[in-house]
Amino acid sequence: MTLDDKLAKKIEKATYQEPYRPHLHFTPEKKWMNDPNGMVFYEGEYHLFYQFHPDSMQWGPMHWGHAVSRDLLEWEHLPVALEPDELGMIFSGSAIVDWHDTSGLFNGGHGLVAIYTSASESTQQQSIAYSTDRGRTWVKYNGNPVIPNTELKDFRDPKVFWHHETNRWVMVLAAGQEIMIYSSPNLLNWTYESSFGKCEGAHGGVWECPDLFAIEVEGTKELKWVMQVDIGDGAIAGGSGGQYFVGEFDGRTFVTEPKVTGTLDGGNAVRWVDYGKDFYATQSFSDMPVKDGRRIWMAWMSNWQYANDVPTSPWRSAMSLPREVSLVQEEHVYELIQKPVAELFNRSENIFVDRTISIEEENTSIIPQPDGPFVLDLMMKGVNGGEPEQGQMVVTLFQSDRKKGCSVTVDFEQGEVAFDRAGMKNSEFHEHFPAVTTAPFSAKAGALHLQLVVDRGSVEIFIDGGRRTMTNLILPEQADSYAITISASGKKPEVDCLGFTIKSVW
Ligand code: FRU
Repeated sequence: MTLDDKLAKKIEKATYQEPYRPHLHFTPEKKWMNDPNGMVFYEGEYHLFYQFHPDSMQWGPMHWGHAVSRDLLEWEHLPVALEPDELGMIFSGSAIVDWHDTSGLFNGGHGLVAIYTSASESTQQQSIAYSTDRGRTWVKYNGNPVIPNTELKDFRDPKVFWHHETNRWVMVLAAGQEIMIYSSPNLLNWTYESSFGKCEGAHGGVWECPDLFAIEVEGTKELKWVMQVDIGDGAIAGGSGGQYFVGEFDGRTFVTEPKVTGTLDGGNAVRWVDYGKDFYATQSFSDMPVKDGRRIWMAWMSNWQYANDVPTSPWRSAMSLPREVSLVQEEHVYELIQKPVAELFNRSENIFVDRTISIEEENTSIIPQPDGPFVLDLMMKGVNGGEPEQGQMVVTLFQSDRKKGCSVTVDFEQGEVAFDRAGMKNSEFHEHFPAVTTAPFSAKAGALHLQLVVDRGSVEIFIDGGRRTMTNLILPEQADSYAITISASGKKPEVDCLGFTIKSVW
């Protein structure tokens, strides 16, 4: 038992008021969590399963933890759904609704099927389990594994969806440095179709947790396919992170467009999902109701560099906010846009700042920071609407007497937003945690919109309407109160500043 586990054991029940306990983001009550798994909407409920070690504060024999929600923000914890068995631990995977009983597991009715990796010391294979009672209890299929494997070392994280055009199930699976695509008429028998990615994208680490879905290009009827792939190391902010590809999928092969080759190890062609250090293993919800039509995804808000050591107790790790994903086309380039789901804004409470701040060089504007979670919307522009093409603007959060907070710096000359948690004292617990992460933006429009969603232990930044996002954990020193400060250098910009609190989920 580690020291962490001993401490966590002393704390019998979570109070949900612990330092750094998120008030908007999903956390397990206690113990270790990593990737989101099995995200599916069924009979009015969103299901979130997650990689869970119920006996420890550190990664270990993986189970699937389980929670349900009706609004994506208030989650009800349910008992562990899947426990390790003779085939091994229960690694990451997905869940779908078998509406027409293609599997024959539902007596002509419908129900939930989870597709996961059975991982032992020696092998990783794909297995399934099913539930006939809205996910409350699970039965493992007696023909597991449905995709056996004795050859490949890394062969995991199945994401399954129904492909209408070919009338069958499709699975994307991470296999070393590529994605394998399988198909099946019934979820039980799978056929290998093709592989993707050996010569595309970033390859700084093992590929993990793929997702593949069709999405309409905004404002058109054009359909594109987005492949999301995580890499265990070598992502844009260091350590683990996600990349995506846009292309075509015919039910068998995925091809990017335009075809990009030879971009091993992070050439310019890599499209990063997020520019912060803490956004990994992204997965989107399956079976969203047609009348809703949104593509919503969520990620694990941590980084394998230090995940096992983040000093929170009695739980470790949170999920990102659920984000609505869309695709736009600008000058022949397809770009993903991510925004917090609308459900977040339904919880808006008090406006604590609503004004235009003209920043003089020697002045710092100080805004008292609310206690709980909040959103800060900043529209930055030049004085009298001109372009703020020179100079820098710095916004600090969690600033208190003599205690250094974190900061967001917008550099208009470089076209770059930087997030700095390096100066925060509590960042020192691990060499890779004190970091400055950066994301590029194009300030063509002469103004830049930043939306900051601030919770007790994280800052998610949505840059330029969500064209770029930057997600980072933070560990503020405890203080009676904090301030937000805004200052600038160079050309004096103006900032339209709107801040409002969001009702805690606890
Ligand atoms: C990603 C990952 C997956 C694996 C799981 C194990 O974070 O490494 O590839 O299934 O975590 O917990």
